[in-house]
Amino acid sequence: MEFNTKPDVVVIGELNVDIILNQIDAFPEIGKEILAQGMNITLGSSSAIFASNLCTLGSGVAFIGKIGKDSFASVVLESLNSKSVDTSHVIQSETVNTGATIVLNYDQDRAMVTYPGAMEDLRIEDIDFGFLSTARHLHFSSIFLQPGICEHLPELFSKAKSLGLTTSLDPQWDPAEKWEVDLSNLLPALDIFLPNKAEFLLLTGTSSMEEGIAMIKEIAPNLTLVIKDGSNGAYGWNYGKLVHQPAFLNTDVIDCIGAGDSFNAGFIHEFLKGSLLKKCLKTGALTGAVSTTRPGGTGAFDSVEGVSKIAAENFKMTL
Ligand SMILES: Nc1ncnc2c1ncn2[C@@H]1O[C@H](COP(=O)(O)OP(=O)(O)OP(=O)(O)O)[C@@H](O)[C@H]1O
Ligand SMILES: [Mg+2]
Repeated sequence: MEFNTKPDVVVIGELNVDIILNQIDAFPEIGKEILAQGMNITLGSSSAIFASNLCTLGSGVAFIGKIGKDSFASVVLESLNSKSVDTSHVIQSETVNTGATIVLNYDQDRAMVTYPGAMEDLRIEDIDFGFLSTARHLHFSSIFLQPGICEHLPELFSKAKSLGLTTSLDPQWDPAEKWEVDLSNLLPALDIFLPNKAEFLLLTGTSSMEEGIAMIKEIAPNLTLVIKDGSNGAYGWNYGKLVHQPAFLNTDVIDCIGAGDSFNAGFIHEFLKGSLLKKCLKTGALTGAVSTTRPGGTGAFDSVEGVSKIAAENFKMTL
């Protein structure tokens, strides 16, 4: 797909496919073979869900990330292209394969194995700063899945800011649960930080949101902090003020896959319109809630008309 227009947002992040096996006869055992009655191969990463849904809402989005030159790479590219995300700057490595997660759904529970592959290999040298400079906003997601670039994030955000972009970051979960990030280095060149509550407490090493915010105030006084809290909604903090946005509660949740990424998409879309924090939080909470009404992270985001219809019918809200 050719893109002649400048993107509003460049998303830098991880890309992988999910191979989802459903209705498994029994749980796997070494040395034995069992059957699954269903299989789905879909675009899996949190950054890609964010990029796809932001594009559906109407922002122009381009992606920078790394995949291999294998058949899973085609799944990733076709899925992003079908949502009109500009993939011309997705890098295809000759030496590593596209990342994949095998999900075994068994009753109400699931087991997952992830091969990170190319997503571990994205480096700061891979970023085309000339291209980045054509955008208005940079969003980065999933620090801990991308060790090749993690250490260089302060440099990446500083460069983006010097090129005139605003910046946002969703750290996502640390699978190693070490949470080794120097926030005093990372946050000063950031405009918007979007962790969930558990991630926020673990990253700040604090036991309450108030304690964590007091720490952030010292190291990044100009930051807008957004803390997502599932069915409790989200908290926003900037200029010394904390606001709470309750969730548009869905009591009939299909699944919560990508609710956080869909929240981010609504929040950033609203932010780019120049809206104040309160309105950005409200739109984020609405798109997060919309996401829970359909399966997977992008199921509710086929078109902006479709999102508006779900918002009106399920939550009596206009987008
Ligand atoms: N049951 C629900 N009903 C309505 N809205 C919800 C519900 N669960 C979550 N949300 C909305 O989605 C937002 C993001 O959810 P959550 O706090 O789970 O983020 P997250 O943990 O970052 O998610 P993810 O797993 O996608 O990374 C919440 O702030 C809330 O507004
Ligand atoms: Mg999240």
